[in-house]
Amino acid sequence: MKDFKTIIEPFRIKMVEPFRLTTEKERTNYIKDAHFNPFLLHSETVMIDFLTDSGTSAMSSDQWAGIMLGDESYAGSKSWLKMEKVIRNLTGLQYVFPTHQGRAAESILYTYLGGKGKVFISNTHFDTTRANIEFSGATAIDIPSPDAKNPEDYFPFKGNMDVEKLEQLLKKYPAEKIGGVILTVTNNSGGGQPVSMKNARDVSRICKKHKVNFFLDCCRIAENAYFIQQREKGYEKVSYKKIAQEMFALTDGAVMSAKKDALVNMGGFLALKNKELAEACKNLLIITEGFTTYGGLSGRDMEAIAIGLEEVFDADYLEYRISSTTFLGEHLRKIGVPLIWPIGGHAVYIDAKEFYKHIPVHEYPGQALAVELYIKGGIRTVEIGSVMFGKYDKKGKLIPAPKELVRLAIPRRAYTQSHIEYVIEVFEKLIANKENVKGFKITEEPKFLRHFTSKFARVK
Ligand code: F0G
Repeated sequence: MKDFKTIIEPFRIKMVEPFRLTTEKERTNYIKDAHFNPFLLHSETVMIDFLTDSGTSAMSSDQWAGIMLGDESYAGSKSWLKMEKVIRNLTGLQYVFPTHQGRAAESILYTYLGGKGKVFISNTHFDTTRANIEFSGATAIDIPSPDAKNPEDYFPFKGNMDVEKLEQLLKKYPAEKIGGVILTVTNNSGGGQPVSMKNARDVSRICKKHKVNFFLDCCRIAENAYFIQQREKGYEKVSYKKIAQEMFALTDGAVMSAKKDALVNMGGFLALKNKELAEACKNLLIITEGFTTYGGLSGRDMEAIAIGLEEVFDADYLEYRISSTTFLGEHLRKIGVPLIWPIGGHAVYIDAKEFYKHIPVHEYPGQALAVELYIKGGIRTVEIGSVMFGKYDKKGKLIPAPKELVRLAIPRRAYTQSHIEYVIEVFEKLIANKENVKGFKITEEPKFLRHFTSKFARVK
């Protein structure tokens, strides 16, 4: 389809989920009722839900058919054996444990390897990864590649880990202090940017030299493989699945939220190479999630994961998926919307501080953009800036986050090209009305994870 301008979805639609076309006036009231926090909106009032790409995929007819085949046996379920086989084949890792989602797998692995005095190192720890590590008493250190510093600069693999810093850290801390080195592909908190095979190879080599564990947070492994095939020398003709298999082969284990690239609404797994480590994790799995042949999942979920993990490597699907995200990002950039460049796999990240230059950071330009996108277009997004990561100093003054971003995360197979074009049109309207938009103040906030439940009021 490369000869055509139009992106066509490589599927037709057998079942639809209608949403109501609300008016701007209605939405102005809905967001007011939700205290200007998109997390507090009822999903029925949302038209295009770009809050997350997690657990929001549309399943295929094969997956739905698989749901009916789900074997709900407590032990030795057929569906589990199928899921285990697919994961072993993909990862090459012998010991596989099902969990109800990604963070449950993280909790098991990092509780066991973490604890006071332990250190974990990553290109960027995702929030739940960091939270699980810190909850165990350990420290999480992010070492993103210096290429990622400037949002405007083009580099093909801005998700990479800084391998020089990795060497330094592994010289500084003895091996027994290191809980693990975690490569997140793609790098979600770093803008959904991909990691190169060369980087994974370097990280693996350094970890082996220092005798520390190397894990992959692989929830967007297929999307990462797409970028490697497109951008890394030597991989032009290698299939997406083979690329993923090559990356897994470099590791000691992997943690996956199946809610992303396994194209399902719930699920995850932990896969490990080492028998002793697997034995220890198995005990934690049974205590916290469930028996080894279902973890936190029903048989039908496991069936759908097994099928989704194969479907996601389909060349037509991945081409459509990434082209669609890129199309949105490139068009927004063309009409003058500042954003993280190049466009990553699952989301477009808008630089709200640049977009609403007149709104100071303590009036949360990202929140203002998220609210405007909802009012003007019924589009739900998430602020990733000072609402999410801001802290206060001793005098109660805001210490802002490094960036004021808004993430447009695109659910897999759920929206069509015309939805994407509509979103671009909404941005055109936002640009025309930019100067009139006001910032927000927080009127109520919890102590932790305030972005989920805080209440806001518009600054007059
Ligand atoms: N790792 C990464 C890189 C993630 O993006 C997520 C979830 C997780 C782990 C945790 O997985 O939700 O199944 O427990 N990311 C979602 C998001 C929530 O919106 O980016 P989970």
